Amino acid sequence: MSTTERRYRIAPSILSADFARLGEEVRSVVAAGADWIHFDVMDNHYVPNLTFGPMVCQALKPHAVTPAGEAVPIDVHLMVQPVDALAAAFADAGADLISFHPEASAHPHRSIQAIRSKGLKAGLVFNPATPLDVLDWTLEDLDLVLVMSVNPGFGGQGFIDSALRKIEQVRRRIDATGKDIRLEVDGGVKVDNIARVAAAGADTFVAGSAIFGKPDYRGVIDAMRAQLN
Ligand code: DX5
Ligand code: ZN
Repeated sequence: MSTTERRYRIAPSILSADFARLGEEVRSVVAAGADWIHFDVMDNHYVPNLTFGPMVCQALKPHAVTPAGEAVPIDVHLMVQPVDALAAAFADAGADLISFHPEASAHPHRSIQAIRSKGLKAGLVFNPATPLDVLDWTLEDLDLVLVMSVNPGFGGQGFIDSALRKIEQVRRRIDATGKDIRLEVDGGVKVDNIARVAAAGADTFVAGSAIFGKPDYRGVIDAMRAQLN
């Protein structure tokens, strides 16, 4: 089955990959069945950590290709403030989807428009304590809603259970639009909780330490898919 036919997407976060061998890590996880590559951008301002920028995205782009030559989307999660200049730089660096935290942009609606005007898909990200009100006036213009199930800034944290209720609420809102909008979950997703996260309504799953922390990437991704079937 090609990735476009799959209902569920697995998006390994390279935050937990070996940074000394990032290209190879991206190729390995794509060969192991990753649907998207999740790219966590941290600025040591909006979140207390610092990762990588558009130049690294551009360098990794040619590695995000299946052994059969199919491009795998790069899913950029901006944990930066402000948003717009970096979003534009990531669009130019080969990102396919860009998500940002609405409180980090002075004008979230304008930021969404700017991302989409470059031909990319746009998402909003909600922290564990952030209400969903912004969706009242933005959901119809989004391609993706990302619910954080940890506080942003670090990999390897435990799943926050209140995210399940939030996922249920977002699922209801998305279904009410009748539009094709992805519901992604990020933080603490593992083989042993992914079925519960899917049951709450998520269709796209970020997993960092659950995959890159393990010797057999395909084994973990297959086990996640088995839980989803
Ligand atoms: C956290 C990042 C996540 C993180 C997930 O700020 O947005 O994408 O890498 O890592 P795990 O799966 O280890 O919780
Ligand atoms: Zn993320």
